[in-house]
Amino acid sequence: MEYRALVTSEENNTFVNSIEKVKLSSLPEHNTLIKVKFSSLNYKDALSASGNKGVSRNYPHTPGIDAAGIIEETTGSEFKKGEEVIVTGYDLGMNTSGGFGEYIRVPDDWIVKKPQNLSLSESMAFGTAGLTAGLCLRKLLNHGLKPEHGDVFVTGVTGGVGIISLMLLSKLGFEVTAITGKMDQENLLKSLGAKKIIDRNEFDLELISPLQKPLYAGGIDAVGGKILSNLICSTSQRAAIACCGMVGGLSLDTSIFPFILRGLSLFGVDSAESLLETKEEVWENFSTSWKLNNIDDNIKNISLEELPNEISNILKGNQIGRVRVLHD
Ligand SMILES: NC(=O)c1ccc[n+]([C@@H]2O[C@H](COP(=O)([O-])OP(=O)(O)OC[C@H]3O[C@@H](n4cnc5c(N)ncnc54)[C@H](OP(=O)(O)O)[C@@H]3O)[C@@H](O)[C@H]2O)c1
Repeated sequence: MEYRALVTSEENNTFVNSIEKVKLSSLPEHNTLIKVKFSSLNYKDALSASGNKGVSRNYPHTPGIDAAGIIEETTGSEFKKGEEVIVTGYDLGMNTSGGFGEYIRVPDDWIVKKPQNLSLSESMAFGTAGLTAGLCLRKLLNHGLKPEHGDVFVTGVTGGVGIISLMLLSKLGFEVTAITGKMDQENLLKSLGAKKIIDRNEFDLELISPLQKPLYAGGIDAVGGKILSNLICSTSQRAAIACCGMVGGLSLDTSIFPFILRGLSLFGVDSAESLLETKEEVWENFSTSWKLNNIDDNIKNISLEELPNEISNILKGNQIGRVRVLHD
């Protein structure tokens, strides 16, 4: 039996993406086969689809770190044929054939049962970007951050992680400052709950002082680099920041002062390797107390054929909101 997939291949030191028919027997020997109905596009997928060996070592390869679908067959006792499930992260789409194919075969301990009050399609409006936003939020709430503590920020706010972070924080009553390179998206950001919008150039500067005006009680950072370095210095007493991304740079220029003079906590989030029970908790929250009724509003739905174009778009930093891949 064959199925359709986006396949990234290496040709003369360049990487090309094409839609191909792939043999089901070529999938790895894990115990559960899932018919993928939806996937979503993340920055990491674009890295895998463009030959980044830090993400995917061997090609040809099918990227896609996210998949939502139906159990087709299983040799385990955890799941039943026909059950609706979500898989994000671990090795999916990295070196295990991923959600940009119509089928995946994965171990049971990568699989989350879809919560009742969330559709498969909605789950891939969140995808890993949304899960990461949820994991960042969970860190901040577990730290004790509350809306009355003051304003919070979100960086990379028009991207996948950023836009869902903004929506979640706003839903929970936080006053959110959206920090963006796309000031023309003001209307969209305000409609999603942003109270203030700031051009990221204001923070994309060499550090001038290790402690700056205390502006934020916390925030979610998806960009790293100089922007995060400056925000670390701009927090109020006992603030908390959750960071997860690096589109703005890998290095961090900081000092011990925000930590020992203002009691700042800086949390890192690694969504892919989070414990399955932590992922389950966040997915459950997405279907209950963190339910976003507007999650489908800023979604671009695309087919497999449209993926190569969207991959180059996300690599250029032009992404606005989420991209969901439909397999039917
Ligand atoms: N740790 C984890 O578990 C985890 C999980 C998912 C994603 N991530 C990482 O989080 C980051 C964001 O992922 P995503 O899926 O949201 O990506 P995305 O959809 O491409 O969004 C990234 C956003 O960052 C901003 N940006 C782009 N280039 C920038 C630059 N040079 N300097 C500063 N900001 C820039 C842009 O927003 P504005 O124009 O609004 O500023 C862009 O929309 C990536 O680094 C990704 O690898 C990490």
